[in-house]
Amino acid sequence: MRQLNPLDQLLADAQNALGTVFGRPDAVRANPAGDRADVVLDDEERRHAAGLMRINHVGEVCAQALYVGQAAVARDPVTRAALLAAAAEETDHLAWCADRLGELDARPSLLNPVWYAGSYAIGLLAGLRGDGWNLGFVVETERQVEAHLHEHLEQLPAADLRSRAILETMKADEARHADHAEAQGARLLPQPVPAVMAMASNLMKAIAYRI
Ligand SMILES: [Fe+2]
Ligand SMILES: [Fe+2]
Repeated sequence: MRQLNPLDQLLADAQNALGTVFGRPDAVRANPAGDRADVVLDDEERRHAAGLMRINHVGEVCAQALYVGQAAVARDPVTRAALLAAAAEETDHLAWCADRLGELDARPSLLNPVWYAGSYAIGLLAGLRGDGWNLGFVVETERQVEAHLHEHLEQLPAADLRSRAILETMKADEARHADHAEAQGARLLPQPVPAVMAMASNLMKAIAYRI
């Protein structure tokens, strides 16, 4: 991988930020909702499904920002490449959630620039602690997201087959991302780091459900 100078790095990160927050990223893999029926939901169900999918979309905006931030300061080129590869796979999730929001007649969170900036800063901080921490942070993030997707699969309206198919595939991907980071030598993060991460994500979820 080419070594970027700091200005190139900053420009590449800015481009990712703008593309994630304001662009319409393309998925590499086909949308797992495929030809599952788009069952008509009643108004309350549709609003609920849209709130959940908005949270998941924000989660993927945050994943992009975290990984790009972490990669910006990763010391080992192998770790950096792994982080950027994970970010690329998260782009599929981002695109699928955006597609489903559109189908549900809903828009992404208005606060996406804020979510992105905050997560990028957290990614930089995690990355500056060194690569063991960097990978440990990936493991903790992915495990928390996996558990959260499990909850959303239970909370989605039963008839929302399309959102369900997307979240099932995402959940399997996140589990694999965590396993992969563990295998690369992740450190176990000490408390209160995981607890603070869970608190921050609960706050994000409460807000993103609505705006
Ligand atoms: Fe994801
Ligand atoms: Fe992931």
